[in-house]
Amino acid sequence: MKCAIFLGFILAFAYGQHRITGGISSIEDLEDETVVGAANFALSTLDAYDDDDNKRVFSKIIKGRKQVVAGILYYLDISMFMSSCSESFTECTPGPEDRQFICSVKVISQPWMEEKMKLIDSHCVPADKDNRHMKKNRNLKKEVKNSRNEKKEEKKLARRFKKFLAEHKKLYSSRREMQRRFEIYRQNQNIIKELQENEQGTAVYGDTFFADLTQEEFQYHKGLNMSYKRQETLLKKAVIPKQSAPEEFDWRNKSAVTPVKNQGSCGSCWAFSVTGNLEGVYSIKHGELLSFSEQELLDCDKLDGGCNGGLPENAYKAIEDLGGLETEDDYPYKGRGGQKCSIDSSEQIVKIKDFLEISQNEEEIAQWLAENGPVSVGINANVMQFYRRGVSHPKKFFCNPKNLDHGVLIVGYGTEITPVKQKVLPYWIVKNSWGTRWGEQGYYRVYRGDGTCGINTMVTSAVVE
Ligand SMILES: *[C@@H]1O[C@H](CO)[C@@H](O)[C@H](O)[C@H]1NC(C)=O
Ligand SMILES: *[C@@H]1O[C@H](CO)[C@@H](O)[C@H](O)[C@H]1NC(C)=O
Repeated sequence: MKCAIFLGFILAFAYGQHRITGGISSIEDLEDETVVGAANFALSTLDAYDDDDNKRVFSKIIKGRKQVVAGILYYLDISMFMSSCSESFTECTPGPEDRQFICSVKVISQPWMEEKMKLIDSHCVPADKDNRHMKKNRNLKKEVKNSRNEKKEEKKLARRFKKFLAEHKKLYSSRREMQRRFEIYRQNQNIIKELQENEQGTAVYGDTFFADLTQEEFQYHKGLNMSYKRQETLLKKAVIPKQSAPEEFDWRNKSAVTPVKNQGSCGSCWAFSVTGNLEGVYSIKHGELLSFSEQELLDCDKLDGGCNGGLPENAYKAIEDLGGLETEDDYPYKGRGGQKCSIDSSEQIVKIKDFLEISQNEEEIAQWLAENGPVSVGINANVMQFYRRGVSHPKKFFCNPKNLDHGVLIVGYGTEITPVKQKVLPYWIVKNSWGTRWGEQGYYRVYRGDGTCGINTMVTSAVVE
């Protein structure tokens, strides 16, 4: 008897030294804060030691046992999801495609130690019950690999988005807004991919300032609005010169084109298209390149809708009726509608005599342009949201020629030979009004010859005094 007590003491002492003092008991309250804490600790440790970026999202504890040692040893069966979400831009709630796993973990908690918790052992299998053990392990590997790839893609996208934010100095009002924009950006990446895969020219599509905008929001950066179309057109038919057009032509080389402007988020493209035309034909006639006022058109042209859009042919008529147009310096651009019209008639430099419809034949358009000056055109600007450079030749599907929604200026044309297939790509040089950071220093090159994006369907010019 004495001996047994002594032995018991020795054992207790020895186990004490080895930090083992009790048996295993099951945990009654599986939602206990400390127990859930231990489970989350185990999952984040697995995350941290994973060589990839998978995020394990805790669901619940299925079974829990504990043993009091030097500290507490937890044996937990945790239900969790392997999430494909990215940590910085999306809330980490499991999606329908996220696989569920059961992880059996062993965690020791020693609050007095520097390392308060330590993951000792772990073993995870997919939650599907019908899989046999070996298959389970194989599936787990596959699942983890798929999940890793998804996660990798997500990381890449998040990195691209960050770069986009920095490059365009985007600021959002809240974290929620940031997440919303990230989702729009993600959708747009799919559109960009489609555009690129179907491109018939040399255009490169990608992130632009507009890559976080929906199609609807992008409307405010265009502004050709057919609801302002007048019943009877006042346009006269242009006389096309007899001689054939030169191989290439560029009014920018002849001091007939002002620097690229920026309409901002106001649907005033129609006004920029018109001032571009006037600047060209005025400089050719008078030998002086002046920049003309879009704001005067926004404020005073009652045939059009200011920032709600308009049409060049209405604007020519309005300028004729107003008695002329002032320069940019005298009537500067504000990019806002609803301002008071304040014309100083002594400053109305350019006066309009006539306005012409040029042609729908692109050869004739080139002939007229080379002889007379840059022309105002309507275009479907769908693909321009993501245009970066090159000769853009989208399939009709992406750019319905009947849906004109943007007004721009053709300042010249040329031909590019593609490097690999030696394909000949005739193009128009188009001056846009989205600043110089868009496209090719503010310019767009679009395929010439097959009515791409309807560029040949609304070609006009003023005739100035
Ligand atoms: C315009 O000028 C540039 C150089 O300033 C030249 O490379 C280009 O060939 C010119 N284009 C035309 C059509 O004259
Ligand atoms: C076109 O103008 C109408 C009438 O002002 C307006 O209701 C509509 O929103 C405009 N469309 C666009 C795309 O700006």
